[in-house]
Amino acid sequence: MADKNNIPRLAVFPQTADVNKKGNLAIGGCDSVALAEKYGTPLYVFDETDIRSRCREFKEEFGKRYPGTIVSYSPKAFTAGAMFELVAEEGLELDVVSGGELAFALASGFPANRIHFPGNNKSREELELAVRERIGHIVVDNLPELNMLSNIADKRKVDILLRLNPGVDPHTHKHNATGIADSKFGLPKADWDEAVKTAMVEYNLNVDGLHFHIGSGLYEYQPYLNSLDEVLSYAADIKQKYKFKMNLLSIGGGFGAQYTVDAVPPTVASFAEAIIERFNSMCRELELETPKLMIEPGRKIVAQAGVALYTVGVIKEIPGVRTYVSVDGGMGDNIRQPMYGAVQEALVASRPADKDTKKVTISGKYCEAGDVLIKEIKLPELNAGDILAVAGSGAYCVPMSSNYNAALRPAIVFVKDGKARLIRRRETLEDLMIRDKEA
Ligand SMILES: Cc1ncc(COP(=O)(O)O)c(C=O)c1O
Repeated sequence: MADKNNIPRLAVFPQTADVNKKGNLAIGGCDSVALAEKYGTPLYVFDETDIRSRCREFKEEFGKRYPGTIVSYSPKAFTAGAMFELVAEEGLELDVVSGGELAFALASGFPANRIHFPGNNKSREELELAVRERIGHIVVDNLPELNMLSNIADKRKVDILLRLNPGVDPHTHKHNATGIADSKFGLPKADWDEAVKTAMVEYNLNVDGLHFHIGSGLYEYQPYLNSLDEVLSYAADIKQKYKFKMNLLSIGGGFGAQYTVDAVPPTVASFAEAIIERFNSMCRELELETPKLMIEPGRKIVAQAGVALYTVGVIKEIPGVRTYVSVDGGMGDNIRQPMYGAVQEALVASRPADKDTKKVTISGKYCEAGDVLIKEIKLPELNAGDILAVAGSGAYCVPMSSNYNAALRPAIVFVKDGKARLIRRRETLEDLMIRDKEA
């Protein structure tokens, strides 16, 4: 039997990934080749044990250093009814960014008072829904939103956080940088004072605290520390000037996940250690009462738990140029490579222990030259019909999927203890046409 310790790439697959007696890649005790056969491909497989253990890791590592830290999962990374249920069971809160995510969470039974709502261009209808459902906090992004919200709240008292843009470079891909000065997200520094003053005089808005979120896929903790310096100094300033009391501070999400064997992000423990240390020392230095703390991880909770299974189709060898291995998915279910130049690892599901012998490009089946899943990877010799398992497919793949080329969006299964449960069926041709028929 193949020794899983001789397969370095398993490090970026889900925690339960293994090689079974047949020599196939197993996830959550389920044979990946059998899953592909039963449910078809492309198939997104999520390891429930992996997701739960990461939820607990965030709660424990932050909680033991700063008791009571609220861990609020960002479902934009992966949205599904089964995921909302899992997150509720694990005692996390939710950080939704649209009326759609909010409605989906509520319909899945997620308690409204544990839901918080950032977003840079919320519509009147979205704010009305949030107010009506009495969610935990609306995270106000800009001055027009503040006015619209006060108007909608009318006689009700609404808890809000103010999202400040601290103007800090998170050293991540520019498409994922949200807390730099040149960003559509959050209140620019020039608006901070006006927002605080306006919000504090509105009788129907309770400004419970401040919020920042500087980006996604961070591999360093220093940008969090720089943002804490900015925002806590400002909190001390407005405490003096306006008697502002910060009950809650959210430092957003952004914690980087591991996608490749060689690039290892800080552990949750080391993020927590550095962040809580600076948070406490700054509060002491500024003589600020320590507020409740909230974090909003998305990617690091689900990225590694998800594996996408594809079937290899056409293999095109262009002498002296490259070998394209086309699979039956691509940018329609995972647009991360074309969008951010993302890098992911893969294994052949039926031969994960085989030696890598050939450099190839894993391309999709969509009509774009940029439709690439993995730009360059060394794999064993591949044949049409092989099942390719792509690691790191849990975050920002399915939620960004599309019907480009009238493709059907994939099915999703949760696996645990040798059992698979279908949590979303594959789209059908009927699904594709239904809205046109009803128009
Ligand atoms: C406000 C907010 N919080 C949290 C997150 C989650 O970030 P990540 O998935 O990188 O942890 C995002 C993602 O963009 C966000 O916009």
